[in-house]
Amino acid sequence: MRKSRILANVAEKVLSKEEAATVIKGMDIIGDIAILKIPSTLEGKETVLAEALLKEAPYIKTVFMQTEPTKGDYRLKKLKWLAGEKKSVTIHKEYGCLFKVDVEKAFFSPRLSFERKRIADFVKNNPVTFNETIINLFAGVGCFSILIAKFNPLVKVFSIDLNPNAVQYMVENIFLNKVRGKVIAVLSEARRIVNEFFLNKADRVLMPLPEKAFEFLDVSVSALKPLGGYIHYQDFIQSIEEKEAIKKAEEKVSRKLKELNIDFQFVGGRIIKNVAPYKFQIALDIKVSSKNI
Ligand SMILES: C[S@@+](CC[C@H](N)C(=O)[O-])C[C@H]1O[C@@H](n2cnc3c(N)ncnc32)[C@H](O)[C@@H]1O
Repeated sequence: MRKSRILANVAEKVLSKEEAATVIKGMDIIGDIAILKIPSTLEGKETVLAEALLKEAPYIKTVFMQTEPTKGDYRLKKLKWLAGEKKSVTIHKEYGCLFKVDVEKAFFSPRLSFERKRIADFVKNNPVTFNETIINLFAGVGCFSILIAKFNPLVKVFSIDLNPNAVQYMVENIFLNKVRGKVIAVLSEARRIVNEFFLNKADRVLMPLPEKAFEFLDVSVSALKPLGGYIHYQDFIQSIEEKEAIKKAEEKVSRKLKELNIDFQFVGGRIIKNVAPYKFQIALDIKVSSKNI
């Protein structure tokens, strides 16, 4: 059963019809942990809802509610335990990979699953060379990097993150998924480490941090080899229509890349998800043909 339907069923059992209609969308399932977004109008009913969810879906062992939006440099969720086992570490399965994560201490979103697989397939279908060097500037617990390495065995992915907890889980995930030597975990601030170690080294750069990727476009360009490669960019764009959002993102990025004096073209663009009314998380695939340095 779809997760929105599970939550709707549970809500219909324990809430009034009007109340139930307000909760249908807000649930993420990460491994065996459910994270609910419950509107403030349902204050006092959270535990009843969470306990009913545990009964309806026995594979869920713990239920949290998210009390504030994802925030801070580490992109963490503020969570309140509601029911089930008191734990925040779980293992999430995705396309044959296993991702261990502490949902309170590191970023993880199951909603990026399709985008991660899309990028892994993109790497396979659009190789720069047979043994690419890839730099993931904002790697979290390693999901993009590990999926890419699983589907492209000859790549080497340097996976950078600022959050020591995320990097600790990334290291565990590298072992869990048997990609040791293909994914290399790096605990550092992205701009600093690229300037110190990765100038002109990469065939491809991943930028899965929509809040800040634009500020780091120059870092991606300096990491790419002089002959270029690919940048996989993300951003949040305000727009009335989806189609217009991609166009706006391309215009914004074009201005910056022209300033950086590189030859490039957009070879892909998609909406990852709708994050608020008229606000989209978008992905752009950018082919850089030369850096003119
Ligand atoms: C949206 S999350 C990454 C998601 C990850 N790629 C995934 O699919 O799960 C962004 C990550 O960037 C890290 N981060 C934020 N600013 C950074 C910086 N300046 N340098 C390196 N990592 C940074 C955060 O700690 C966080 O783990």
